[in-house]
Amino acid sequence: MPGAGCAAKKTACVTGGNGYIASALVKMLLDKGYAVKTTVRDPGNEEPHPHSVSVSLVSPSDPVRCWGRALSYTPLPGAQQSSTIISRPASMGGAAKKTACVTGGNGYIASALVKMLLEEGYAVKTTVRDPDDTEKNSHLMELKALGPLEIFRADLDDEGSFDDAVAGCDYAFLVAAPVNIITSDNPEKEQIEPSVRGTLNVMRSCVKAGTVRRVVLTSAASSVCIRPLEGDGGHVLDEDSWSDLDYVTAEKPPIWAYVVSKVLLEKAACRFAQEHGISLVILCPGLTVGASPAPKVYSSVPAGLAILSGDEAALATLKGIESSFGAVPIVDLHDLCRAEVLLAETETASGRYICCSFNTTILEIARFLADKYPQYIDVDVDMKKKLLLLSGDEELLEKPRVRLSSAKLVKEGFQFKYNTLHEVYEDTVEYGKALGILRY
Ligand SMILES: NC(=O)c1ccc[n+]([C@@H]2O[C@H](COP(=O)([O-])OP(=O)(O)OC[C@H]3O[C@@H](n4cnc5c(N)ncnc54)[C@H](OP(=O)(O)O)[C@@H]3O)[C@@H](O)[C@H]2O)c1
Repeated sequence: MPGAGCAAKKTACVTGGNGYIASALVKMLLDKGYAVKTTVRDPGNEEPHPHSVSVSLVSPSDPVRCWGRALSYTPLPGAQQSSTIISRPASMGGAAKKTACVTGGNGYIASALVKMLLEEGYAVKTTVRDPDDTEKNSHLMELKALGPLEIFRADLDDEGSFDDAVAGCDYAFLVAAPVNIITSDNPEKEQIEPSVRGTLNVMRSCVKAGTVRRVVLTSAASSVCIRPLEGDGGHVLDEDSWSDLDYVTAEKPPIWAYVVSKVLLEKAACRFAQEHGISLVILCPGLTVGASPAPKVYSSVPAGLAILSGDEAALATLKGIESSFGAVPIVDLHDLCRAEVLLAETETASGRYICCSFNTTILEIARFLADKYPQYIDVDVDMKKKLLLLSGDEELLEKPRVRLSSAKLVKEGFQFKYNTLHEVYEDTVEYGKALGILRY
């Protein structure tokens, strides 16, 4: 039953958890992957026992229902130095710091975020539209081996359907969203309205929960940089920059409805957060590539690999990004997830954060790929000609006209680990093979 975290099979209660034997037993159970509930007479006493596990309880009165908060080891003398965090079950509210809700858990980004949070010791509650769809969700079942993971049914269009998933959570990562990058026939109904309405729907659940200390909203760099800019280059844009909706709706670049949806949902989320006292941070990632646990990916990875795969629709998406942004801003998925977690945990973080490790162009990517993966490319044909053949007569940029700056994120202590095309593509090409986008 969703929400019934106490029913998990690997749960042990140890009484007198700060005692000599019980401390060692708690440690051993944690080491073996159990979730542990323990009791002490005075949970308010944070003084660590000299040779044992220090424990604090949410409430001592009902050990069967209450979970320890973060536990840390004070190792026995001579023992190997170690520390660990216990995760409490996702269904439990209270003051513990490690329960996160991730919406849209079977998606490309959310799957990787769920995995990272579990690996870092969080209990995770995630939502999918159809939990019975085994094809879409089987990787989430596998992720359950990493830690406490509960899956809930929720739809952005159904008011209140996120209530159970968010209840008791400390952090809410809003990742689910319609992702029609190239504008569809009915953009208002398919992209713009559901994006804004769905974001507010989840935020209302956060207010109802009353436990969420930080909402992390995944928007996109497209809310930042689609605006008239004079000259050929040298434009450095930061979080003060907004895509200009008058310009976007007049010019109608191929991704215009996606851009409008991101600007409107961010502004609506900021207003709502202010009115309801929610601590909100917003990430604006560039084109995100890299391996995810998700077995199918619909937009960014196919676009990132389009030059190798030759897939015309994916190449059109990539071209749509370059022509609208004035660059192809790239971030690796692993870095994006690390940034999401950092911004959740950094109390002083606030506002928008661009998350982009470098800015490049289709031609730079194509030259790099032709050199690194010649088996996928007909090297006899000039790359620019080939790209033009594949995608019409539009001009391709030699250098980025626009550079998105992630300096604000870096000031929060973040360091990108994937800083070059080489680092980003190594993983992405392997993932593309596994997805069937590229041949082995
Ligand atoms: N990938 C990128 O390069 C990139 C870059 C910048 C920003 N972003 C943003 O990051 C977020 C996630 O993107 P992604 O690449 O991970 O896309 P994705 O793989 O398509 O994931 C989107 C998720 O949203 C869910 N969803 C869509 N409509 C929904 C609805 N009405 N109710 C509930 N769930 C719904 C989908 O569920 P179903 O499986 O049921 O359809 C899916 O789980 C999006 O907001 C996207 O705009 C992505």
